[in-house]
Amino acid sequence: MSLPSLFDPCLAGELALANRIVMAPLTRNRAPDAIPTPLMVEYYRQRAAAGLIISEATAISQQGQGYSDVPGLYGTEQLDGWKHVTQAVHQAGGKMLVQLWHVGRISHHSLQPGGQAPVAPSALRAHARTVLVRDGRAEFVETSTPRALEAEELPGIVHAYQAAARNAVETAGFDGVEIHAANGYLLDQFMKDGANHRTGDYGGRIANRCRLTLEVARAVVDAIGGGRTGIRISPVTTSNDIGDSKPQALFTHLVRELAALDLAFIHVVEGVTGGPRTLEERPFDYAELRRAYRMAGGKGAWMVNNGYDKALAERALQDGADLVAFGRPFIANPDLVRRLKQDAPLNPLDKDTLYGGGAKGYTDYPALA
Ligand SMILES: Cc1cc2nc3c(=O)[nH]c(=O)nc-3n(C[C@H](O)[C@H](O)[C@H](O)COP(=O)(O)O)c2cc1C
Repeated sequence: MSLPSLFDPCLAGELALANRIVMAPLTRNRAPDAIPTPLMVEYYRQRAAAGLIISEATAISQQGQGYSDVPGLYGTEQLDGWKHVTQAVHQAGGKMLVQLWHVGRISHHSLQPGGQAPVAPSALRAHARTVLVRDGRAEFVETSTPRALEAEELPGIVHAYQAAARNAVETAGFDGVEIHAANGYLLDQFMKDGANHRTGDYGGRIANRCRLTLEVARAVVDAIGGGRTGIRISPVTTSNDIGDSKPQALFTHLVRELAALDLAFIHVVEGVTGGPRTLEERPFDYAELRRAYRMAGGKGAWMVNNGYDKALAERALQDGADLVAFGRPFIANPDLVRRLKQDAPLNPLDKDTLYGGGAKGYTDYPALA
């Protein structure tokens, strides 16, 4: 039996993907008033040759919003805007999920309903910055001190994820959703003891800290089915000032519980998001995590990310991964799949145009002739 290549098809739950190259979720801050624009239609259409596109993180509610000009999924105009994006991707032969996002404490009060404090498991400020776009220019500012959520508020948040998933599929035309449980945002904050100092049902032991993420996953699966639902985790990332004292035990518990939900995929950011793949002070055994998921009966595709190039990606497939997500290479190379296939050189990334602005550094990266 020959091993799969990056260019072979893959079935992830109900998602029949043309190849194993996934466009990772990439926030670009080009959606004024949280509404997807025609420029975004063009950007995603250009990248539709990916086996799967995962959209930039998209707020499930205004409370879940933490950055200027990021899109939402809770208003009619937002859903209409996304409908144009998914239609264009589908016409170009692609598949697209939306990444469901609640930022928790990684926000600024000026973005919150009524200018209030952001919400979090505990009233602990993250030593992290967020992006405010002023006069079309991105500005990094310190996040605001959050308030701790009351337990009575949590069902409303679970419901917001569920409603967003339903609207994403039924109204906006997405093929499914990815639950964003990575990178120090709300669900990651609840899971990790660096940010969760609660007592009660949602704090303390691992099972309690994973409770909100699992409730969200079950609610989303109830709404749209496991075969169209994936989840993103980042066990040891330092992004957004997050950390846990026992990540291996924490994520082993999580994936064992997720195994029963028949998800389309588990998406794992290995190491520090956008940084080193291994950290001496935060060791983690990813193969062991996958084994724990498989041993618990988990059948979803195993998606890996962070710092992959073609050679490393092929090795990951040989080692048992099913899908590889590429982030920065997809920003700079709309035709990344073709370039990888032909071993063509990649365009370099322009770091000055990542967040905010217009077509420059967004839709004007050249494809191969
Ligand atoms: C500009 C930019 C925006 C990002 N936005 C998101 C996001 O919205 N959601 C998310 O989960 N990760 C986000 N990430 C992380 C990427 O998905 C990915 O994990 C990271 O870039 C590492 O993959 P790479 O080495 O292939 O770029 C972002 C990264 C960059 C560079």
